[in-house]
Amino acid sequence: MPGAGLILAIETSCDETAAAVVQRGARTLSSVVASQVATHARYGGVVPELASREHLRAIVPVVRAALAQAGIILADLDAIAVTRGPGLAGALLVGITYAKALAFAQSLPLIAVNHLEGHIHAVLLNERSVPESSPNGQSSFDTEPALALVVSGGHTHLYLAQPTQSTWHYTLIGRTLDDAAGEAFDKVAKLLGLGYPGGPWIDALALHGNPHAVPFSFSQIKPKLHLAGKPPRTKAASTAPIARLDPHFLFSFSGIKTAVLRYVELHNLRPEAEARHGALFTGPDTPASPTLEAALATCDAQTLDLIASFQHAVVGDLLKKTFAAAESLAVSSIFVTGGVAANRELRQRFTAESARRNFKVSFPTLALSTDNAAMIAAAAWPRFLARDFALPDLSADPSLALGR
Ligand code: KG4
Ligand code: ZN
Repeated sequence: MPGAGLILAIETSCDETAAAVVQRGARTLSSVVASQVATHARYGGVVPELASREHLRAIVPVVRAALAQAGIILADLDAIAVTRGPGLAGALLVGITYAKALAFAQSLPLIAVNHLEGHIHAVLLNERSVPESSPNGQSSFDTEPALALVVSGGHTHLYLAQPTQSTWHYTLIGRTLDDAAGEAFDKVAKLLGLGYPGGPWIDALALHGNPHAVPFSFSQIKPKLHLAGKPPRTKAASTAPIARLDPHFLFSFSGIKTAVLRYVELHNLRPEAEARHGALFTGPDTPASPTLEAALATCDAQTLDLIASFQHAVVGDLLKKTFAAAESLAVSSIFVTGGVAANRELRQRFTAESARRNFKVSFPTLALSTDNAAMIAAAAWPRFLARDFALPDLSADPSLALGR
């Protein structure tokens, strides 16, 4: 029976087919994620055509599993939510088409969600699930503005997230000019013969190296590089594209990737990286998923130092710019979310810096940091309350922006 505030969400924007049932944007009844990592790993990155094919294969069983794990049937739902973008066009379309069909068949409202807004609500979902939340699933977090760093394989964006009466308002404060931070993790891991996605490998191996061994640095982005104007304080500036953003809050991760490549070449580490890749992934007896111990055994001290130094530099840059933006906007709350927010050094340094500078920092659980559908259901809840429903002609928007 509808009326219990149950939303079924579907997320297919990249390489995870995910479905979840969440009650009132706060209580996760189920969250099922079918990862395609094994399909894409051998190519060192996501192959869009393969992603769509895998979503087609997985969508029905994943939605069925989400309903079964929640112990409900379609007739119990109040709405269906789906990721509209940004993401891969073909991949998004699989989720949207299926969600539309379900909503039509069950006469349920359909809610379109921005994937980046979903990542921000992954943090709120955590906070709302505490018992003192209000009956509408709201916590004190739903009433205070926060600076949100969304840091994943596709994005490195800073938003000012402000709760309004009915829903949330987002202002873009900063972003990457080139690669996303997660992309840099993935590219550096590939360069070193490690697996895909690279973040978890680097995260684990960095623990064994010296983070100060290679002094990588990020130079301040020059205003003239992107014709930056004033900091985004005025309303006009807040809706402006990258040229109007404060250069202090802009990121660039393609340089460090090149610096790692140069280091690898200068120190002749490439043959070792190729041998590592062979030993871990393409040899005759390699297991389906090599262990950290196996990877560690292939890395000498110099490689481990390189990995630790790379991670230390990336986390340091994210830290510096995020806290500078939080200070400039005078917010007291910082959200860090997206796949890279699973990183141990990142969590530890953001937590320590927040304590030192008197900010409150929040992360999603590890499972909610990477792509999932529970975050989409959580973001859909305020829209459900505001009756902000999608039209029947809803389509995918691969480059959908959030709060320009
Ligand atoms: O949010 P997500 O699952 O998908 C996107 O929306 O992109 O993020 C995936 C990204 C990948 O680049 C992956 O390498 C990175 O998050 N990642 C990590 C860690 N776990 C995943 N990066 C650093 N440390 C981790 N522990
Ligand atoms: Zn994502």
